[in-house]
Amino acid sequence: MMATQPTPSTIDDDLRVTVERITSEVVHSFDAAPDARLRDVMATLVTHLHAFAVDVALTRGEWEAGIAFLTAAGQKCDDKRQELILLSDALGLSMVVDAVSEHLPAGATESTVLGPFYMPDSPRREFGDSIAEQPSGEPSWVHGVVRDLDGAPIGGAEIDVWQNADDRLYAVQNPDLPQDNLRGRFTARADGSYGFVAVRPTDYTIPTDGPVGDLLHATARHAWRPAHLHLIVRAPGYRSLTTHVFDAESEHLASDAVFAVKPSLVRTFVRHGADDPARPAGVDGPWTAVENDVVLAPAERPARGTA
Ligand code: BEZ
Ligand code: FE
Repeated sequence: MMATQPTPSTIDDDLRVTVERITSEVVHSFDAAPDARLRDVMATLVTHLHAFAVDVALTRGEWEAGIAFLTAAGQKCDDKRQELILLSDALGLSMVVDAVSEHLPAGATESTVLGPFYMPDSPRREFGDSIAEQPSGEPSWVHGVVRDLDGAPIGGAEIDVWQNADDRLYAVQNPDLPQDNLRGRFTARADGSYGFVAVRPTDYTIPTDGPVGDLLHATARHAWRPAHLHLIVRAPGYRSLTTHVFDAESEHLASDAVFAVKPSLVRTFVRHGADDPARPAGVDGPWTAVENDVVLAPAERPARGTA
């Protein structure tokens, strides 16, 4: 027989008063925190955590399982594996943070999730170079112009790109590969233009060999992400933009495992034949091209009425 657990409606008044007292004591324990933001964040976090435990009538066994899960997620992390980012992504928290913290002005390119496979210090590459250091899929010419909200080009903007190969993996997931494969940093030319050869990205599954994978399995969720390239675009005086270029033909645009698709980031990869004279240097065989202009928001918006 299933144990009957109290639900919010069956929690008696004495218990509710007890929890309210505990919550109040913990909230006030932060009163003297010198950092007011930290005080408020902790007080609100504790309030929601306590309410969560009450709402689901959390059992001691479930709480222990939760602690074991978080412990295992932490232990899965190393310099190349970030299970806690993955957890945040899979729970949609990363995209909620994106929604509440980015507030980009109309006209700016939208941001999306960073994901766990970003590695800083990618090699610097020149306009037109390929990021594929070994055969990694069908070549794709990725190009566009970086502009500000008024349409003026942002020469010198840095475009930091990384992507997976046709085996569905990022270089960081396969220590046998050159670790700079399919990543690089490009600098926009004076007219804001950038261009590089990538490979057409493939749909892939987020890592399922850890606690997050166990959670997806236990909840009958799939792990697929729609095909995409990652970009971080930076320029002095502008807000850094962490974004994706999604492939319009991807199967999983409507069911991303990390809820990160924004329609404005979906692009068409246009097919070209091997004999197309416009093919980029070094490319033979069929290829695709994708145009991706980027609009950066200024680092600080002038206060209302002072512009
Ligand atoms: C990625 O796009 O690289 C990614 C994002 C979230 C979770 C796993 C992978
Ligand atoms: Fe990715």
